[in-house]
Amino acid sequence: MSKQQPHEFLSPVWRDGIFRGRVVFVTGGAGDICSAQTRALVYLGADACIIGRKVEKTEAAAIDIAKVRKGARVIGIGNVDVRNFESLQKAADRCVAELGSIDFVIAGAAGNFISSIAGLSPNAFKAVMDIDTIGTFNTIKATIDHLIKSATAHVSPNAENLPPGGRFIAVSATFHYTGVPMQSHAAAAKAGVDSLVNSVALEYGPYGVMANVIAPGPIEGTEGMDRLGSSGFGENVVTDEKGQQLRPSVRGGSPSIPSGRWGTVRDIADATVYLFSAAADNVNGHVLVVDGGAWRRQGGFLSAGDNPALQYPGFLLAGAASSRKKTASKI
Ligand code: COA
Repeated sequence: MSKQQPHEFLSPVWRDGIFRGRVVFVTGGAGDICSAQTRALVYLGADACIIGRKVEKTEAAAIDIAKVRKGARVIGIGNVDVRNFESLQKAADRCVAELGSIDFVIAGAAGNFISSIAGLSPNAFKAVMDIDTIGTFNTIKATIDHLIKSATAHVSPNAENLPPGGRFIAVSATFHYTGVPMQSHAAAAKAGVDSLVNSVALEYGPYGVMANVIAPGPIEGTEGMDRLGSSGFGENVVTDEKGQQLRPSVRGGSPSIPSGRWGTVRDIADATVYLFSAAADNVNGHVLVVDGGAWRRQGGFLSAGDNPALQYPGFLLAGAASSRKKTASKI
């Protein structure tokens, strides 16, 4: 059996087999969020091809994901950088040769770290733009013909209730809605991603391809939040006038998030299942924010946290540049 139990990556509302006969191609598929998205789709009947830079990590994730359903076929293709179009195209070709099609695509590969503009070299900014924005463009270019073919072959809704085909999701973020300090690179890159998906929705909707964005907020237990959440980022203790600790919310999580808790990979997997399912047959060019309302309170903070060390603009005036720069104050 896989290391993860179904309730950890999927809510109990979906029907078994709703993606039977469909293949999903996922960049960044070994990562915390995208592996949960893939696991959920495979659990519900899909086969999958996951792409990553690290060979061992990607292949191991594929083997683990395949364990969620007897007979599942999951290929892990490592040594593929979304910045390199040729390697991505080869991976897409291999996916179709081995699994028969590409019906769904998740552009999930991303790069991020904490740095102010002062701490960013031109190459650092470019690296994130290249991975997120150009990587998403490359993913679209390498797979769009397959998606058109799938959308043509699997028109939905249909009388037989067969699963749809030709669906695209980009995993984005919410930084650019308000602006977030120390995230200029990721915010610019994800704004580009959202914009690209709008164009896909417009240009390929007439071919039956539905293209949407999922924008996660802070997700607990992910590499991204480990990176963005140093110095106790996101922790919050609320006390009454006698210094007694109050429960931050009915759900026991962060009071800085309106829903009262951090996101989970399951939240994002559920959103993915919805957008690829027949329930979302006419959802195109949409941004589905899955963050408990967190972005409505972000901006001054680094993100959703209320850590005093990250209060705006004190940490900037104190000279914070990047966790990587030896001379910068630690974030
Ligand atoms: N602060 C400031 N600059 C940084 C940095 C940091 N924390 N980390 C990397 N950089 C800079 C590097 O110094 C380099 O710039 P330079 O050539 O001017 O010195 C530039 O970014 C590229 O770094 P490099 O490590 O050569 O690039 P890479 O392609 O191997 O890695 C990154 C890309 C930087 C995005 C890296 O963080 C990465 O691979 N991340 C993938 C995983 C990830 O980010 N997951 C979280 C998703 S939310």
